Amino acid sequence: MKTEICERLGIEFPIFAFSHCRDVVAAVSRAGGLGVLGAVAYSPEQLELELKWIDEHVDGKPYGVDTVIPAKYIGKDQGDITKEQLEQMITPAHRKWINDLLDRHGVPPLPDDVEQIEGLLGWSASGGRAHFEVAMNHPIALIANALGPPPDDIISQAHDKGVMVAALCGTVKQAIKQKEAGVDIVIASGYEAGGHTGEIGSIVLVPQVVDAVAPTPVLAAGGIGSGRQMAAAMAMGAAGVWTGSIWLTTEESDSIPSLVDKLLVADSTETVRSRCISGKPARQLKTAYTRAWDEDPECPGYLPMPLQFMATSEATQRITRFAQSGVEGSEALLGTPVGQVVGQMNTRKPARQVVEEMVSEYIDAVERVSNLLADSE
Ligand SMILES: Cc1cc2nc3c(=O)[nH]c(=O)nc-3n(C[C@H](O)[C@H](O)[C@H](O)COP(=O)(O)O)c2cc1C
Repeated sequence: MKTEICERLGIEFPIFAFSHCRDVVAAVSRAGGLGVLGAVAYSPEQLELELKWIDEHVDGKPYGVDTVIPAKYIGKDQGDITKEQLEQMITPAHRKWINDLLDRHGVPPLPDDVEQIEGLLGWSASGGRAHFEVAMNHPIALIANALGPPPDDIISQAHDKGVMVAALCGTVKQAIKQKEAGVDIVIASGYEAGGHTGEIGSIVLVPQVVDAVAPTPVLAAGGIGSGRQMAAAMAMGAAGVWTGSIWLTTEESDSIPSLVDKLLVADSTETVRSRCISGKPARQLKTAYTRAWDEDPECPGYLPMPLQFMATSEATQRITRFAQSGVEGSEALLGTPVGQVVGQMNTRKPARQVVEEMVSEYIDAVERVSNLLADSE
């Protein structure tokens, strides 16, 4: 496909694949799309190792990195207060309710010799900046930011190195702010998307954003996992598609097998938009964990970003660890961000095959629609 964005980035297809898994990122880039590594879950040191691995396995193809520098969160106005100060804002009632929930499901505590994962990670400007600095020492083609426009100096540093800058939005207002901030690509992410998402469906949001920020290119995100959905996005004026959920069930995905099994059987009604991961609404698989947060009358309520993630990071680590070793209660609580396309993720395939099938179904869809015109002449 010869689109402007393909030429600028040196890719064959305008298919962007967000993933926290380096194998998926490298596989999609090698298949002609653009793999984008989500940095938020990594320490800067670990991110360095992941990017080094990608550099060695991407066969010289372009790839990107995604950071999270939220526009609004606790401590931002004070220039990022310390982790200790943030920890003190997590109430004892929250800590107790979370522990009790895991105990009720028979999830054992973490063994003493297991290091607890860092709870704050990239959910702050300083964390996101640290990721950006690591990423800029690698040959990335794109830097994307979630939850707000990237700060001015980050945009100018990226541009100085010839790196394109993208940002995700869920409303026209946010899209305009991103254009004004100077991003090169706006990613319009609809209600059905996995992860943080707004309230407007993709089919309504994408054409509005395309019109509002023209001629800035727009990628359509949310609900895209097939060539027909890609054709719809391109027909709405998108310059390409930004996908996330569809890669979770690929062969390269590092999601644990029992989670992949859950995703393969889930239908599109089995996701929920909940604040239980980060304090901001994020679509994810419906599980005993999301039900407890959303429906238990004893639940003390969600905390604002970044406290919610910090309060729950040890619990998430426990759930994942013991789901891996088959503890039933852990498996019931285990979930992931995923969008409504989960209902069409029914077989495990290599990432390359997902890209190839998307492209061939896209061609069929475009031909079918063009034939409708030919038939009516
Ligand atoms: C497991 C998962 C984790 C995500 N984490 C992030 C993230 O850290 N940063 C980000 O910009 N987007 C994140 N997203 C959202 C994706 O970038 C993308 O916008 C979304 O998945 C597109 O909708 P789809 O899930 O319907 O393909 C995540 C999505 C999923 C499924």
